[in-house]
Amino acid sequence: MDKAALRLTLFGLLFTCVNLAAEKKKIDIYSFHINCTVTGRYATTVITSRVANVLNKSQEVNFEVQIPKNAFISQFRMTIDGKTYDAIVKEKEEAQQEYSQAVSRGESAGLVSAVGRTLEEFKTSVTVAANSKVTFELTYEELLKRRLGKYELLINAQPMQPVADFKIDVHIHESAGISLLEVKGGLNTKDLANAVTTTRAQQDAWVKFYPTRDQQKDCDDCTKNGLNGNLVIMYDVERVKQSGDFKVANGYFVHYFAPTDVQRIPKNVVFIIDQSSSMQGNKIEQTRMAMLRILSDLAKDDYFGLITFSSHIQAWKPELLKATAENVEEAKTFVKQIRSGGATDINGAVLNAVNMINQYTQEGSASILILLTDGDPTSGVTNPVTIQQNVKTAIGGKYPLYCLGFGFNVRFEFLEKMSLENNGAARRIYEDSDADLQLQGFYEEVAIPLLTNVQLNYQGVAKVTQTTFSQYYNGSEIVVAGYITDNSLESLTTEVIALSKSTKVVYNDSVLTDDLKNDGLEHGNYISRLWAFLTVKQLLAKTMLLKGQEKDNAKTEALDLSLKYKFVTPLTSMVVTKPQGDEVQVAVKPNEEKRHSSGRKQTSKDSTRMHLAASPDNMHYFKTPTRHHHGSRNKIASQRPIQHSFRKIPIFAPDYHDLFDAELGMWYQLPKTTQKPLATSPPWKSIRILKSSGNAQPICYDVPFALNVRLQQNDPTEFYMNGELEAMGGKGFKQIDISYKTNHQLRLSATKIDYSYGSESMTFSWDQELTHHETEHVSLVLRSNEMDITMGNMRIVILLHKEDGSVFLWPAVLQQPKDVSSSGILGEAEVSYEVILGLQTSILKLKDQVVKASWVTMKDYRLPAAPVIGCWLVPFEAVTQKTISDFAITQP
Ligand SMILES: *[C@@H]1O[C@H](CO)[C@@H](O)[C@H](O)[C@H]1NC(C)=O
Ligand SMILES: *[C@@H]1O[C@H](CO)[C@@H](O)[C@H](O)[C@H]1NC(C)=O
Ligand SMILES: *[C@@H]1O[C@H](CO)[C@@H](O)[C@H](O)[C@H]1NC(C)=O
Ligand SMILES: *[C@@H]1O[C@H](CO)[C@@H](O)[C@H](O)[C@H]1NC(C)=O
Repeated sequence: MDKAALRLTLFGLLFTCVNLAAEKKKIDIYSFHINCTVTGRYATTVITSRVANVLNKSQEVNFEVQIPKNAFISQFRMTIDGKTYDAIVKEKEEAQQEYSQAVSRGESAGLVSAVGRTLEEFKTSVTVAANSKVTFELTYEELLKRRLGKYELLINAQPMQPVADFKIDVHIHESAGISLLEVKGGLNTKDLANAVTTTRAQQDAWVKFYPTRDQQKDCDDCTKNGLNGNLVIMYDVERVKQSGDFKVANGYFVHYFAPTDVQRIPKNVVFIIDQSSSMQGNKIEQTRMAMLRILSDLAKDDYFGLITFSSHIQAWKPELLKATAENVEEAKTFVKQIRSGGATDINGAVLNAVNMINQYTQEGSASILILLTDGDPTSGVTNPVTIQQNVKTAIGGKYPLYCLGFGFNVRFEFLEKMSLENNGAARRIYEDSDADLQLQGFYEEVAIPLLTNVQLNYQGVAKVTQTTFSQYYNGSEIVVAGYITDNSLESLTTEVIALSKSTKVVYNDSVLTDDLKNDGLEHGNYISRLWAFLTVKQLLAKTMLLKGQEKDNAKTEALDLSLKYKFVTPLTSMVVTKPQGDEVQVAVKPNEEKRHSSGRKQTSKDSTRMHLAASPDNMHYFKTPTRHHHGSRNKIASQRPIQHSFRKIPIFAPDYHDLFDAELGMWYQLPKTTQKPLATSPPWKSIRILKSSGNAQPICYDVPFALNVRLQQNDPTEFYMNGELEAMGGKGFKQIDISYKTNHQLRLSATKIDYSYGSESMTFSWDQELTHHETEHVSLVLRSNEMDITMGNMRIVILLHKEDGSVFLWPAVLQQPKDVSSSGILGEAEVSYEVILGLQTSILKLKDQVVKASWVTMKDYRLPAAPVIGCWLVPFEAVTQKTISDFAITQP
């Protein structure tokens, strides 16, 4: 074979490979963004997926995402060939009639359906012409509830294939101040953890998750279709005033009430446990495990009772007993002997428990009934309506009844109604390996009553959401929103009356409405949406309890609000019209009952259950192998809020050798090896660099003046980034040069971007529309004023900032290998420190050195909005371990 023929063959082979690759990637999801903004606990999430049909013929493109069940979808749109198709929210019946044809063709099925415990799925598809693109955009909203001292935001990411430009951006703004931030979930583990960055300021927190394409293929929560997992962000806020926090905007107000200055109230609690035959195996096993732990958690001054029931009702003791060590031990022995068998007499069991608790009335305690059942009533009184009436009459509104529905054989609506009628709530317990933890978790939420009979009063307001709460538990929060009727109202006056043990407590407050208005950072209309969300949720719950005209009124009101705010609720439907031949799809929110069937398929573990049934008596047999609670990695190394350190007062600190910590009441001795803390004052600085740290607060450092500097140098991966600074007094960079593996060169300036790859070269401009360019291991995504660059396992965004007439570039390193040492003035991946002493001027321990730091605020140019945030200013040398001359270069 001569040389030419060989070349031709090779070329042919190459061509085949390329073709195969193209065949495999007929649909390219080239960009997938989830942008979530939380203001005052109200979360608005926008999922944007941009998809290209790279095939030479038209084909169907799917959009499939999972959203929290508690949320309402508020917008959906598709953009195809520059034309936008907005979905419309209509009354359910109207939509069904209008589009009955579509519905009868079965097209509505599956548009939204329940999947797991916390998520429901939204799914649609559209036909896209050859070589065309479509953009899907879905918006949903929810009010985050405080549970066990935290708000939890759950984001599911499952783009169905690895995506070049994948981003999750979360911005939390809480004007009261953020006191805790944790990022968990399967997407924050192992290899993916370094794709997560968190930034925190006093009132704001940003969480970014920007995994590279390679990471999306190769992680624990990945399949060959890319990522599939959750990111869970938990946070809490500062509580300065016991009377709560108020916000006012556009005529609406919201009051967040969660006092901490009260003592726990001892409780009288009766557990009513179903031991009918359907509980056999796994369920009864897990119930026993949970009960044993719950009994151990009872406080010494709590009183408790235990009732187990099937067709026959059995009480551990005829009365409530104090939770002394002996009583708890005795009760545990009883629990270990609970066996399943027989039918289900819910009526008898609950009435028995009510009797028990009624006989035991102690001043200054909080009574609670907890019912756990897995099936419909089949023995004694079996008519659900009669049971509900009996229970309601017996309890007489005196204390709450909580109902836990175990598995999917229960008629959940029956339990829900019964608990709502008695000031409680119903919760589903999913049959899974962690069912015992779910039970225990629910108990913990009601374990510490702080107030009972809470009544909140407001003056000059209307359309107020629920204002009476039978109990307030530690770790929760009461949220009330309403409309201010009096336009001239200068102050919002509130009065909260409640019982703490048997003492009446009053929280009065009067806040000037002007002080409550926008603090400039908030989009004020979140309060009216929060109000609408809460009102619709509460009205929907009410419609379950009301009858006749009242029920109709509540329904009408909920419907009107759902339509006005475009919420897809159980009363409305969303009509999606597609471009081809007026094809229509109707999306409805699934209800709890319908979740039966789909949920059952998902969660039942028949094989496990059979396996376990073989040895039901062995208490310790069931070891939960895989627990599906959200990860365990905690990205924030320091749990302790930094404010703590501010309270430490140095009394004697001339040279920082001996320091007195007033809070701990002890002297601090700085390490002898360090003569003096390093000073922080470069003669002339050029720019100030902000760096996320392993700690809650970032650090920052001034770069001494130099014109051209090495920003990042990573020899093992052959990645280099240099920058040319603006002249003295400038704000950022004039030019940034990046080189990767010798054959990729990228030069960015304020006017254009040049890229060359081998013999190929191209030029982009900053204002062109979203562009995506990809070669092996390199992906460039350009959107307005942002170039997102992935080269191997480096991910960098270069931002173009325009500020006060000057235009400059700023690099943000989103990701860099942590195990490979890299140098440059941007330093390595992450720096952590220890606060030895905190005040305006503080002492940090950083890289085994003691350094002086000052608390300063600066703009974070690593984000497009350049928010002002606080950081510890430390010396340049302390971070880089070098002097500027080590990084200065003669030309970029
Ligand atoms: C996310 O949405 C907010 C509110 O619409 C917007 O201000 C912000 O720029 C968006 N962030 C990103 C990264 O798209
Ligand atoms: C794509 O289709 C058009 C028209 O059917 C045809 O002219 C063209 O050659 C095709 N291109 C490729 C790359 O197959
Ligand atoms: C409430 O819970 C917090 C922790 O979440 C705890 O520090 C506090 O002591 C609890 N309050 C009472 C009264 O138990
Ligand atoms: C609280 O306010 C109410 C009316 O707004 C008033 O009657 C009551 O005396 C006040 N209580 C306290 C303790 O200030």
